[in-house]
Amino acid sequence: MNLTGNTILITGGSTGIGLALAKKFVELENKVIITGRTESKLAQAASEVSGIETIRCNASDALAVADMAARVKKDHPQLNVLINNAGIFLNKNLSKNDEDLSTLTAEVDINLSGPIRTVAALIDVLIQNRGTVINVSSGLAFVPLASAPVYCATKAALHSYSLSLRAQLQDHGVRVIELMPPAVRTELTADLPEDAGFTIISTDELVVATIKGLRADRDEIRPGQANQLHWMSRVAPGFINRQLAKNSKSLTSE
Ligand SMILES: NC(=O)c1ccc[n+]([C@@H]2O[C@H](COP(=O)([O-])OP(=O)(O)OC[C@H]3O[C@@H](n4cnc5c(N)ncnc54)[C@H](OP(=O)(O)O)[C@@H]3O)[C@@H](O)[C@H]2O)c1
Repeated sequence: MNLTGNTILITGGSTGIGLALAKKFVELENKVIITGRTESKLAQAASEVSGIETIRCNASDALAVADMAARVKKDHPQLNVLINNAGIFLNKNLSKNDEDLSTLTAEVDINLSGPIRTVAALIDVLIQNRGTVINVSSGLAFVPLASAPVYCATKAALHSYSLSLRAQLQDHGVRVIELMPPAVRTELTADLPEDAGFTIISTDELVVATIKGLRADRDEIRPGQANQLHWMSRVAPGFINRQLAKNSKSLTSE
């Protein structure tokens, strides 16, 4: 992917990884549009990154995604990069009844259905501009962290979807890349205990690895421990599965 002169839409670009990528892409002279649910977070991001455009949009709301896509296509018909980054992470104790069954599947609606519907809403302009889709999944797509069962299931599913999307879009000139971060210091990992066995990298370190992966034209960008999880899931799947389950046990115990 060319790293300059693109028009890039980043879902969930108001904090964390999305915001760090937005800053880097603006620095590299790209037009960047970010989305998120919270107006105050979007306004804060806009005050930090000059020239960035913000659109309030909930990735789990199909009508909102359709409206957002229509606005982007009207205002930015040159859109050629979609970064599906919006996501949430919830620890869940599956041995207990969940009183709110809609919250139980919120990660599916945002982390998995969000990218699927955003791609569908923008596919015409992405094909027209021979664009790139970057899906942000996770190293946990390869091995689940047992404390976050639905989150990890969404990331494994997003990985599978990305493989199919790549296969289907290659004849249409659209590149599909999967960014699979390891643990990154953001709001999302605020509750991750120090002894969970993860090396937590900064958003700046992730951005450096992402740009390096994009320059190398990789299908999958798996920085640091995400690559280790990839290989361990092949070489010693039972061992790494048990290890992550053990390390995350404290997150679901009372
Ligand atoms: N941090 C990690 O260790 C890590 C590791 C692997 C993968 N990832 C993935 O990286 C992505 C970004 O995570 P992060 O760590 O940067 O988390 P973060 O700092 O919590 O940022 C999440 C972003 O997504 C937005 N968002 C959440 N739900 C949304 C929705 N329904 N619709 C639209 N926007 C929504 C948030 O804004 P609002 O809340 O205002 O909507 C925010 O801008 C996620 O997909 C996550 O799964 C993170």
